[in-house]
Amino acid sequence: MTLQISVIGTNYLGATHAAGMAEFGHDVIGVDIDPDRVKTLNSGQSHIFEVGLEPLLAKHTATGRLRFTTDYAEIADWADVHFLALGTPSGPGGAADLSQLHSAIDSLAPLLTKPCLVVGKSTVPVGTALALEARLREKAPIGDGVEVAWNPEFLREAYAVEDTLRPDRLVFGTHSKEALATLEEIYEIPITDRTPVVRCDIATAELIKVAANSFLATKISFINAMAQMCQAAGGDVTLLADAIGFDKRIGREFLNAGLGFGGGCLPKDIAALAVRADELGVGVLSEFIHAVEAINDGQRLELAELAIDQAGGDVTGKRIAVLGAAFKPGTDDTRNSPALTVADHLHARGADVRIYDPQARLAPREGFTQVASVEQALLGAEVVLHLTEWPEFRQLNPEKLGELVKSKIIIDGRLKLHAPSWRNAGWKLVQIGRASTI
Ligand code: UDX
Repeated sequence: MTLQISVIGTNYLGATHAAGMAEFGHDVIGVDIDPDRVKTLNSGQSHIFEVGLEPLLAKHTATGRLRFTTDYAEIADWADVHFLALGTPSGPGGAADLSQLHSAIDSLAPLLTKPCLVVGKSTVPVGTALALEARLREKAPIGDGVEVAWNPEFLREAYAVEDTLRPDRLVFGTHSKEALATLEEIYEIPITDRTPVVRCDIATAELIKVAANSFLATKISFINAMAQMCQAAGGDVTLLADAIGFDKRIGREFLNAGLGFGGGCLPKDIAALAVRADELGVGVLSEFIHAVEAINDGQRLELAELAIDQAGGDVTGKRIAVLGAAFKPGTDDTRNSPALTVADHLHARGADVRIYDPQARLAPREGFTQVASVEQALLGAEVVLHLTEWPEFRQLNPEKLGELVKSKIIIDGRLKLHAPSWRNAGWKLVQIGRASTI
């Protein structure tokens, strides 16, 4: 059955979810406080670079099944279900800042006169959903006629559309049969027959999301700690990851060693989980997470120090080429980007840093220059750093590039370059955790 659905918040998560809901056959209105973004989205264009999103927006704004507004009054009496897809950035001390959720609730609640379900998709500290429900019921004319459920989103940037249309699993956190039935209905036609569904209470749903992100972060920090061990003992972390990854209980994914994790989700979500664990007296979890974070931060510092070493112990006035600025390939997102932390660190030590990224556009900032090609970045460089593993960097021609640099030294911070090609072309190629003979 076609439902009338609003999606509040239209950034990565909300824009993709709104388009996905329209693709599933529902009538959708996306709401955002930013009029420029609403205008762009209404014209069927995307304000973010996300594979497959724009065609979906164009398709459904054209069919009339999807539109966007800044006006909460348009959705309050229209929608059967309101999805909350707002950001929960890092606040003081790493706690989740819930102000966007609160202000959305405060805008929506006083207008609610018809019974509805409010479904959270944002990543939140456990306990948030019920607090939001109390806030809604207090302010809404319909009172207890509004109910909250939690349906966390696991989408990855660069695969957001795919993850929305073909999720690994769905989580329905509810506290009434009616709310569960509504969620089943929303997802029924397209996917519940081929997608595992976990039906649970709301607290479990909130925790599932942060547990997933923490576990992914843990895998990365574990393999990076093993990379340090390989470095110390002369082993090879890539072969090690391949070998342990063949064990189905472990799996090979998220065992790529290198600069570690960044982006708008993993770092902030695990920091917020640590704060919440402390609030609830679960010190053992916050300590665990802090260890994961410390390894991750250490990788960035280690790489910057390695670059300084390779430059002869001092980078003052020396040109360093940085390949990659996005926090991972396939996105233009530079939030908490490991590449930029390394670049900042080297700039602070006096280096002349030149950055090239195929997608990310950096706001003009002091410290480093963004250039338009790999060649411009490498011209006169004393050390080259490969920090975001864009596929095109694997196709580079080490012979030709060798003519541009001052010293043929490259540090592969993502362990993805074909080492023999670079070494055969006379480069010194350094990879943390991989023996230099590979
Ligand atoms: C992540 C989760 O995957 C997603 O489920 C959640 O909803 C949001 O957070 P995303 O931030 O898009 O998604 O990025 P992801 O692909 O998970 O990568 C996170 C970071 O880990 C990147 O910086 C990536 O470079 C790094 N990474 C990933 C590694 O260092 N090694 C790996 O093996 C995998």
